[in-house]
Amino acid sequence: MDAASYRDCEAWRAEGLPLTTSSNEACKLYDSVLTQYVKWMSDESMGGLEACISAMKAADPNFVMGHLISTGLELVSTGSSIRLDQRLAADMKRTVELANSQDITPREKLHVKAMELFSRGNFLKANDIWEDILVDHPTDMLALKFSHDSYFYIGAQNKLRDSVARVLPFWKPHVPLYRYLKGMYSFGLMETRFYDEAERVAMEGLALTPGDAWAVHTVAHVCEMRAELDKGLKFMESREKDWAASDILASHNYWHWGLYFIEKGQYDAALEIFDSQIFRRCKASGSMLDTVDASSMLYRLEMEGVCVKDRWRELFQVTQPHTDDHVTMFNDVHFLMTSLGAKESATSQRLLGGLQELAKDPGEHYQHKLAGTMGLPMCQAMVEYDQGNYNQAVELLYPLRYDVLNIGGSDAQRDVFNQLLIHAAMKSENKQHQKLGRCLLYERDAMKPGSPLTSRLMQRALALH
Ligand SMILES: [Fe+2]
Repeated sequence: MDAASYRDCEAWRAEGLPLTTSSNEACKLYDSVLTQYVKWMSDESMGGLEACISAMKAADPNFVMGHLISTGLELVSTGSSIRLDQRLAADMKRTVELANSQDITPREKLHVKAMELFSRGNFLKANDIWEDILVDHPTDMLALKFSHDSYFYIGAQNKLRDSVARVLPFWKPHVPLYRYLKGMYSFGLMETRFYDEAERVAMEGLALTPGDAWAVHTVAHVCEMRAELDKGLKFMESREKDWAASDILASHNYWHWGLYFIEKGQYDAALEIFDSQIFRRCKASGSMLDTVDASSMLYRLEMEGVCVKDRWRELFQVTQPHTDDHVTMFNDVHFLMTSLGAKESATSQRLLGGLQELAKDPGEHYQHKLAGTMGLPMCQAMVEYDQGNYNQAVELLYPLRYDVLNIGGSDAQRDVFNQLLIHAAMKSENKQHQKLGRCLLYERDAMKPGSPLTSRLMQRALALH
């Protein structure tokens, strides 16, 4: 898209979403930033996301929603936080000050309040405010997208789905970004196991926009959850040229591609896609999504008995600087996979020590409140597993298995913890644990019939008896 196609001050006003600025250029650049966020793709014709953000702030240095979207995008990426990053804290403070010093609309005020709460880790209250905005302004894509991401980080699967369902009828096909709602809605449907409906809605989105990487992603998940591995491989490959252009999501979609190979036991193919796409892109972006995916893939491969060689050490270079972040528990447990894999015990201990401190005084922070109840026992279980103490790993993980949802991520991403519990149970010397492992495999088979990974493990589990 070129600058002319983005919305100016009047266009935003006409949609009932006025922006407090007199700069048409700032309005258009805000639209461009929002569009890139929704599409998971940099608009190179506009110079990319960061250039647009800089130009937007330069066009009107006092543009509240410009500062809001800029700070908000950094915060929802979960790669940093106001707790540790003084520059980001100052950006959030400046956004609030700008909002307080101007006569902005009630909608804009609510946006600032929501992001301020999110920046302090109060994901739940932030979500409530975004939903309040959407009641009055159902076509406010920024509120919808921020809430979508936030729900993902707290494992609120039903809310993820319903939040989009509530506003869909208000969106008419002429409203910009309408077509991307299909992908967003399909993802919530998929996470709540309406797989047929999810696939149908995602394919509707893809009929409108073949390059919608988030709709592709839903279909990738549906194939994963149903163990339709050949269908998934064919789907991803046949459409690769469309979705791979989405620079922000491509690595994650390649990760899904790699999961099919792990399921099929084609480990060399999984490593090849790890090297050529997932880790290459992770190193370049440093994004949290790419980083947790890379960690998860190596961890899964090792559980399958694959030697991943120096890859842990290389990935550790990316995760190590985030050891003290504690932005989400989901990120933390993945960082630990890598420090354990790289045999960097000092970093592993530091991460656990940080969680212990947070557990003492979590304040209002949603994620920090989980440090004691989820983060620490999950991390401790991974340490025990790493040290061969499988009995302890089971004792720690088994009671938590239905609460793991609360650390966020998708069912497919959290399956790594299900696999970990099964492996620990099978390796435990405790006969009761071995029987439990077999039961958990029956359960996995019931939820995901036809999974070759389950079959392989089941053969080993039955051989134990
Ligand atoms: Fe995914």
